[in-house]
Amino acid sequence: MSEPAATPRWREDFPVRWDEDNYMTRRELAKFLTLGSGLLAGVNVLIAFVGLTGRPPTAPVRRIAAADEVAPGSSLLFRYPTPDDPCILLRDGSGRFDAFSQVCTHLSCAVVHRPEDQALACPCHKGSFSAREGLPLAGPPTRRLPRIVIERRGADLVAVGIEV
Ligand code: FES
Repeated sequence: MSEPAATPRWREDFPVRWDEDNYMTRRELAKFLTLGSGLLAGVNVLIAFVGLTGRPPTAPVRRIAAADEVAPGSSLLFRYPTPDDPCILLRDGSGRFDAFSQVCTHLSCAVVHRPEDQALACPCHKGSFSAREGLPLAGPPTRRLPRIVIERRGADLVAVGIEV
């Protein structure tokens, strides 16, 4: 017959009662969950605040061209807001100007002006957008082209922002 194991000496020096030490009451659990949820909600509010107040400055104001450089029914390519962002300025037969990003919202091919259809056509997958609103008309694109907000300042056309 074996004798019960003797209590190790360290247990006498550090008497920890494991069964009580690992016990968590419902109240402690509720407090933990409440504090954890409150902390997450606080972090979300902080992220929203930083997102709203820490936005980069608005899009730059940049001259595109003189208005009379673009004949009715034609288009002009330009870059906005950075040199890596191709855009297209359109002038319809009535003299109205519209400008859009030239990057197709399907897979980023460059759209081209088709004045006879009053459309911007994407040659990659036969996508098509309206030349007036930039809305998808045909093919795979489902999102409109971002509109470049333009203003006329004297004889010039100026890009002042982007509407996504
Ligand atoms: S990339 Fe324009 S339709 Fe596919």
